[in-house]
Amino acid sequence: MGSCFSVRIRADSPRRDGLSSRYASIDGRDTSSRRSSFSLPLTPRSEGEILELSNLKIFGFNDLRTATRNFRPDSVLGEGGFGCVFKGWVDENTFKAAKPGTGMVIAVKRLNQDGLQGHKEWLTEINYLGQLYHPNLVKLVGYCLEDEHRLLVYEFMPRGSLENHLFRRTAHFQPLSWNLRMKVALGAAKGLAYLHSPEARVIYRDFKSSNILLDSNYNAKLSDFGLAKDGPIDGKSYVSTRVMGTYGYAAPEYMATGHLTSRSDVYSFGVVLLEMLTGRRVLDKNLPSGEQNLIIWARPFLASKRRVLRVMDARIQGQYTPNAALKAASLAVKCLATEPKHRPTMKEVVAAIELLQDTGSVKPDAAAAAAAVQHHRARGGDSSRRAASYPRPSPPPVPAVASL
Ligand SMILES: Nc1ncnc2c1ncn2[C@@H]1O[C@H](COP(=O)(O)OP(=O)(O)OP(=O)(O)O)[C@@H](O)[C@H]1O
Ligand SMILES: [Mg+2]
Repeated sequence: MGSCFSVRIRADSPRRDGLSSRYASIDGRDTSSRRSSFSLPLTPRSEGEILELSNLKIFGFNDLRTATRNFRPDSVLGEGGFGCVFKGWVDENTFKAAKPGTGMVIAVKRLNQDGLQGHKEWLTEINYLGQLYHPNLVKLVGYCLEDEHRLLVYEFMPRGSLENHLFRRTAHFQPLSWNLRMKVALGAAKGLAYLHSPEARVIYRDFKSSNILLDSNYNAKLSDFGLAKDGPIDGKSYVSTRVMGTYGYAAPEYMATGHLTSRSDVYSFGVVLLEMLTGRRVLDKNLPSGEQNLIIWARPFLASKRRVLRVMDARIQGQYTPNAALKAASLAVKCLATEPKHRPTMKEVVAAIELLQDTGSVKPDAAAAAAAVQHHRARGGDSSRRAASYPRPSPPPVPAVASL
């Protein structure tokens, strides 16, 4: 990518590959139907209706340019497939640009001017986030549509993305403790459960660690609704779509058929939960070939209390009981079931994660057992893990093909 500006992206920008990690099938047709009239929120049909009904603040391009100090490289919070995200400041009453450090902090996502797909995602984001409100969804403050410019203005999330906390090895991003990981898992699960509820009936389609943003208290909020879809209606069990999403996180049956259900999101949740437990990316080209796919590598370890400790993130060793680790791993396994109907609902996932809150105070003997396993591993007692001793490699490029 690197398209935000001509000089280098700030070192803590999470983007690693310069290419979109999303994929799309070439057959093209998207045959999903619209929401029925009794469901809320109603999905408008035309661009004009979406913008009119959104209830969002309309920003001028010049204001956003000033608010972000001319989209300065050191205002960059991150970069994704859509474009760069900048930090800015506006007056909380007038929404005019304010002096840095005063007024309200915002995150401004600026669309790369590269075609229709970007515009469609920009509009879809406005369509959903302009109507859906929940403590675990990021707040869209407004948008800018001026000439060729397409921008989105969000509440600023001071602790950035879960992805940064899990995988970036810098002083700025301290590893999250077990308790915080469970808190984030619960918040993200509640966000998804709300989307799947009869009230919203939305399939998110892009659940991944970079789309989970954290506020100052580590409350998780889902961002990026550019790929979201209305759930099926009229007794249908799935929505037919063009396959879109992110390698590694998308459910295998969805990738194979384009049939989208809320259980596809549940699969993606299982992937992120596993990333949180192990501290490993779902796909990591920097690891030896047998370890590059987290799901294939970790699965044999997830069914027993003794074995699960061998794949847990070494940076949180001793912070949880083996019992809690096994319960969390078992939940991930259920979410990753090959057969969608064997996966739990997000409501059930929320209930299971609620039981795991504050399981971070461990008994001394449990901590010792966990430490012993980690020690054994660090000494090379488990050859399959040798290459993963810490510090581990920097974030990898996202591969072109997923091997699920
Ligand atoms: N509201 C926000 N507050 C603070 N930081 C944000 C906000 N929105 C995005 N970011 C930062 O910008 C990064 C890029 O976000 P973006 O959603 O554009 O891309 P992505 O999720 O990394 O990738 P993709 O485009 O594939 O979804 C995020 O990972 C996060 O670090
Ligand atoms: Mg994102």
